[in-house]
Formats: sequence, C-alpha cells, structure tokens
Amino acid sequence: MNSLSPSDRHPSHMLSGPLTTDPAVIGIIGAGHLGRALALAHRQAGYPNSRILISHGSSQQTLEAINRSGLGRNVTSNEEIFQKASLIFIAIRPQSLISLSRLPVSPSTIVISCMAGISTWTLQNLWNIPVHRMMPSGPETVLAGKSIAGLYPGSLVIRDHLTKIGLEVIVVSDEEQMHDITAGVCFPAALLVAKDQNLDIENEIRAGEGFGHLYSRVLSWACTVAPQELSGPERTAYISRMSTPGGITETVCRSIREGNSLYQAYLDGISRCRDIGEEMAGRTISDR
Ligand SMILES: NC(=O)c1ccc[n+]([C@@H]2O[C@H](COP(=O)([O-])OP(=O)(O)OC[C@H]3O[C@@H](n4cnc5c(N)ncnc54)[C@H](OP(=O)(O)O)[C@@H]3O)[C@@H](O)[C@H]2O)c1
Repeated sequence: MNSLSPSDRHPSHMLSGPLTTDPAVIGIIGAGHLGRALALAHRQAGYPNSRILISHGSSQQTLEAINRSGLGRNVTSNEEIFQKASLIFIAIRPQSLISLSRLPVSPSTIVISCMAGISTWTLQNLWNIPVHRMMPSGPETVLAGKSIAGLYPGSLVIRDHLTKIGLEVIVVSDEEQMHDITAGVCFPAALLVAKDQNLDIENEIRAGEGFGHLYSRVLSWACTVAPQELSGPERTAYISRMSTPGGITETVCRSIREGNSLYQAYLDGISRCRDIGEEMAGRTISDR
C-alpha cells in the first residue's frame, strides 16, 4: 500500500532533514480551522517557529483567530510562501482555488492539497507540477495527535513528515478512495448528530462491517475520537470547526438530520466530493 511515488525519487523533493535539526520551511496557505491546526501541530512536533509560514485571505475575523492561536508572527503572503517553502499545504476552501491559479510554483516544491474533492489532475493542470493530496480529520484530532489522514499518491517522504506531526497516515490507491476517506473523516461530527437523532449507533457499526474495510476502519477510529460529554453549544462549535461551508461534513450531517443512516450519509458525502471535484475542474479549465 505505502508505495513510493515517482516524485520521491527526485532529490529536490526530499525535505532537508529531520524536523528538529535542519528543517525546511513549511508553508500553509489558508490558515483557517484546518490550516491553523496544521501549523500548531508542526510547532508541537518541535518544528522551529521561524520556519512555519502561513497565509490567509482578507477576513479580520480569521486574523484575530490566528493571533489568538499565537500564530500572528507566522503570517506572510502567498508569494513569499511559494518562494521560500519547500513543503506547502493548501488548506483553503475548494471554492477559493481559482484565487491561487496565477501563483508561480517551483517544480522543486512539494505541494500537498488538503482540499476536499479536487483531483490531482485538476491541480497539476493548474500549476504544472505534481501535487499530492492529503485528507486529514478535523482540527481537534490534529491538535490532539489523534488524526488520521488519507494520502494520495503514496510518498514515503510525505508520509514520514505527516507521521512526525502526529497524523496516522492511510495511503490510498486512487482518488475514489480519497473521496471515501474525505466522507469518513466527517464521522466524529456525524456521530454527534446521529446521537441527537437517536440513531442506533451500535447497530450502524455492526452494519458497517459489510461496507468495506476502509469504511469500518474509519468508523472505528471515529468512535474512539468523537467527544462524549459535550453540552449543546459545545457540540455545535465542534461540528462547526469540522465543517467548511458547502463542504462534505455539512452534507454528511444534513443527511443524518434528514433521517438517513450513517452509511447513506457517507455515500452522500462521497457524492458531494465528486460534485465539488467536477465543478472546480470545470472552473479551472475555463479560467486558463
Ligand atoms: N475543517 C476540517 O475539518 C477539514 C478537514 C479536512 C480537510 N479540510 C479542507 O481544508 C480546507 C479548509 O477548510 P477549513 O474548514 O479550515 O476552512 P476555513 O476555516 O474557511 O479556512 C480557509 C482559509 O483559507 C483562507 N483563504 C481563502 N483564500 C485564500 C487565499 N487566496 N490565500 C490564502 N488563504 C486564503 C481563508 O482566509 P480568510 O478567512 O481570511 O478569507 C480561510 O482562513 C478545505 O478545502 C477543506 O475541504 C477541512
């Protein structure tokens, strides 16, 4: 499963050393809920603060959240990130992708997209470089060192890096499986909604055993990380931090609220991933 992609064999795609000794510069484009968690996970892993660069859009609210997280001094422009970082995470919303279409990306940069639904094909067409995708679970799990993350295509260098910052990496064999993981990492939020809807979760888990290894694995993981004792407002805040407007968690949670099973909600999430992917593929082509 953990295959080596062709890009790993290119020396310029190697990070310059262990995280604590001779680190490369890490860039995070889009310091929203996920991007801030990734930046903090690097810091928690001992990554020098001076080597973490982040960017955001124009929202004052986001800037305030960045400052509250203690990341204010890490903020810079996208241009500087693309110039200095050797490993860049793209953590903007899929719908914002076009705003990055004109950036010059060096072929020696490793770019990892965290955007739901958008295929490597779309991204490679946009930037003319090989792009990896990773789909981590929500920010809380990243910060707690309990995150799982799908990775495509497999890459030893990237897998090792993600492991160092505390993510459990699942290398998948194609982008359909990235859709599966993307819907699956919504389960911690989905389980909270399912509880509110009085869904028989034990029964859902038993039924899940017939729906494939990946589904069962991610659902079992979600049962261990979904918070148990949250008040109503805390639950709402947790779900909101995991939800990107118009995104997959929103779709999965809505499906459960409409009375569907966890599995049907998962299928609806996968379908939403495909829709986003197709929509953005079309928009990037027409933008060129
Ligand atoms: N949240 C999760 O649990 C989760 C899990 C896995 C994957 N994801 C993926 O991660 C991505 C981000 O999700 P999120 O929930 O973190 O969304 P979010 O909180 O809305 O964060 C997106 C950030 O991107 C920034 N941004 C927009 N345009 C930009 C640009 N041109 N350059 C730099 N930054 C820009 C926004 O800044 P402003 O606010 O200043 O405009 C915002 O801070 C999505 O693609 C989602 O599919 C999210």
